[in-house]
Amino acid sequence: MSAPIPVRSPLTSALSGTTAVLIGGSSGIGLAAGVLLRSVGARVVLVGRDPGRLKAAVSQVRDAGSAEDPDDAVLGVSGDGGDERTLAEAFDGAGHVDHVLVTAGGLSGTGPVTGLSADDVRATFDALLGRTFAIARTAATRLPAGGSITFSSGILVLRPAPGMTVPLSAAGAVETLTKALAVELAPARLRVNTVRYGRIDTPLLRSLPSLNSDDAVAEAGSTAPLGRFGTAEEAAASALFLMANNYVTGQVVTVDGGESLS
Ligand SMILES: NC(=O)c1ccc[n+]([C@@H]2O[C@H](COP(=O)([O-])OP(=O)(O)OC[C@H]3O[C@@H](n4cnc5c(N)ncnc54)[C@H](OP(=O)(O)O)[C@@H]3O)[C@@H](O)[C@H]2O)c1
Repeated sequence: MSAPIPVRSPLTSALSGTTAVLIGGSSGIGLAAGVLLRSVGARVVLVGRDPGRLKAAVSQVRDAGSAEDPDDAVLGVSGDGGDERTLAEAFDGAGHVDHVLVTAGGLSGTGPVTGLSADDVRATFDALLGRTFAIARTAATRLPAGGSITFSSGILVLRPAPGMTVPLSAAGAVETLTKALAVELAPARLRVNTVRYGRIDTPLLRSLPSLNSDDAVAEAGSTAPLGRFGTAEEAAASALFLMANNYVTGQVVTVDGGESLS
């Protein structure tokens, strides 16, 4: 019988001195998580594909710490989060990793199913689920007891929109595997959770042609239950809660300003 999961402070300030790998940490919610984590004294490894975006993000997260921070307080690893070599580089670079947050994602495989080929469907599933399983495999063998993995999904899983069948099926699978993996990894005292986001004001949201200006975001957000979209920091804070609280596993936590109820 393994020892029970350690008891420790569930406050996010207790993440000080821990190390988190943020896959998708060069923008939006992942980047905001990096800033919050560094501001409470955690070490952070950011993973993203675009080297320029990653470099700027590393610098932004470093600025959230103090001038005396060692160079390895914030690292950047450029590559695809589904590539096991990239993941090994991130874990090896960190030396010791306590938490993994996965916010890598984007819009792919959209459109009516009748217009998508079998290859289109396979590519979307391979990208999202292939990445998720690669991360789960790596994290499961590298994290210590008390470690956590936090994935991302979205409220369209609950309230689908036309043309989103393929990406939402993959996102729904992430929610299901969260529960299955939580059960599988509990004996190793690892926790697995997902944050299900509503509309969060990030570069991904603003990449939609109808939301590419402050005015458009404010106007569209005004119809949300709380009168605006969420901020990346509000979204990221929920991931920090899940990292810090050693008694939460197998959960999908919705952060959507009440939108899924409206
Ligand atoms: N914002 C929302 O309203 C919203 C709503 C529901 C769900 N979500 C989900 O929440 C997550 C975060 O969204 P966000 O709004 O923060 O998006 P974002 O601003 O576009 O950030 C996504 C990050 O992931 C990285 N990334 C994408 N694909 C990657 C890959 N294969 N390997 C490594 N890094 C990768 C991106 O950098 P590179 O492109 O340079 O790799 C970027 O740093 C996504 O999974 C998204 O689907 C967001």
